Amino acid sequence: MNICFIGTGYVGLVSGVLFSDFGNNVICVDNDKKKIENLKKGIIPIFEPTLDELVKRNYKSKRLHFTTDIHKAIKDSDIVFIAVGTPSAKDGVSADLKNVYAVAKVIAQNINKYKIIVIKSTVPVCTGDEVEKIIKKKNSISKFDVVSNPEFLREGEAIRDFRYPDRVVVGSNNLKKIRPALEKIYEPIIKKGAKFLTTTRRSSELIKYAANAFLATKITFINEIANLCEQVGSNVDDIASGIGTDARIGSRFLRAGPAYGGSCFPKDTKALTMIGNKFKTEMSVVTSVIKSNEKRKSLLADKILKILGNPKNKKVGFLGVTFKANTDDMRDTQCLKIFPKLLKKGVKISYYDPSGEKKELKRLSCKKNSNEILTNSDLVVIHTEWDEFRSLNFSKIKSKKLKIFDMRNLYQPNSFSNKNIVYYSIGRPFYEKKA
Ligand SMILES: NC(=O)c1ccc[n+]([C@@H]2O[C@H](COP(=O)([O-])OP(=O)(O)OC[C@H]3O[C@@H](n4cnc5c(N)ncnc54)[C@H](O)[C@@H]3O)[C@@H](O)[C@H]2O)c1
Repeated sequence: MNICFIGTGYVGLVSGVLFSDFGNNVICVDNDKKKIENLKKGIIPIFEPTLDELVKRNYKSKRLHFTTDIHKAIKDSDIVFIAVGTPSAKDGVSADLKNVYAVAKVIAQNINKYKIIVIKSTVPVCTGDEVEKIIKKKNSISKFDVVSNPEFLREGEAIRDFRYPDRVVVGSNNLKKIRPALEKIYEPIIKKGAKFLTTTRRSSELIKYAANAFLATKITFINEIANLCEQVGSNVDDIASGIGTDARIGSRFLRAGPAYGGSCFPKDTKALTMIGNKFKTEMSVVTSVIKSNEKRKSLLADKILKILGNPKNKKVGFLGVTFKANTDDMRDTQCLKIFPKLLKKGVKISYYDPSGEKKELKRLSCKKNSNEILTNSDLVVIHTEWDEFRSLNFSKIKSKKLKIFDMRNLYQPNSFSNKNIVYYSIGRPFYEKKA
């Protein structure tokens, strides 16, 4: 099958590479020339475990191509995936669809034979209708179908998630016609046990927002329970196991920590409230989740200030600054909201992140490894759950007092034999007690 992906970011690159790995001929398109030039040289624009090896292998085998020539890529393809970004618009809440509509206009100019246009970007319900209208202005409806096929992969686990998803959702108003082609390209995944769920296009669009909003709600719920645990002396990890083992609830996304962040949950929860507004339907649960999540970042900054006592000129070292482990994505990462409050109080912040130095944090000092953070800080904040932070070398700091605020509960509060360490975590007993 000849496939093209328009938008070679986290979703477009991962999906494109894996479809080529399944034996399809895939062209990945982007309007970022530098990105495409680098990809041709084997330079991968994102940090995603095992992605570079897959890109190199499939590019070498000539099943995977990179180009900025969107016109030719569309003409040469049977299936055209739209995987461009849909960030929050200037109003800070609704989804900005200008990339999707710009691509739809280019597709409209390049329909030279029947094509399936698949919207993989996360888009508000009815966007498929708009894309169809744009393409229909220049083409007969018999020449194309617009399908919704949202993506559920998680950064840091993207390859595994794409290969072994729980389900593939395909929404179309012409299922009979498009189903064989979509089933064919997803066959290797379906064979491994993924459900192939078909629905209308609008339902499929809404499934993606409902899924993200529900997961964000779970995280926010357990974070609020963690706040309560700190007041009543309970252990949030026990609460999470106690409720998560109930099959009706499920244990995943019940880890207390910093607020949810990243490139999807914050923007998608907000966009869902705007979809509700548009269709005059109150989304009160999601609205309060967003509010609680925003408040949490300020609450965590306050906790850091409280731990420091007098914060002026105190040195705080962050271990991890991305919103989760195994990604370099800084979009809407929690610490971006925590740092300004600390800096205002005169705190000196440094950080180390295994995915490298961050252009977003130019004003802060970037350290080369966790030992540099441990030996140069009054307080160490474990912000991201990178595996290497699970076994920090505390022997280095025998001679000095060190406070640790473990926002991911990677350690057990009573596991520190070093009496110079004061350990704080999230929603657990011994909070603010010496280990
Ligand atoms: N990142 C995730 O974990 C994730 C997971 C599921 C779904 N999604 C959704 O997938 C979509 C893409 O997300 P992403 O994280 O891959 O975004 P991204 O910003 O990493 O990548 C988008 C790419 O599209 C390119 N682009 C934008 N306009 C273009 C145009 N007119 N022509 C060609 N290329 C263009 C950009 O240069 C960029 O490389 C979004 O709607 C997002 O919500 C993302």
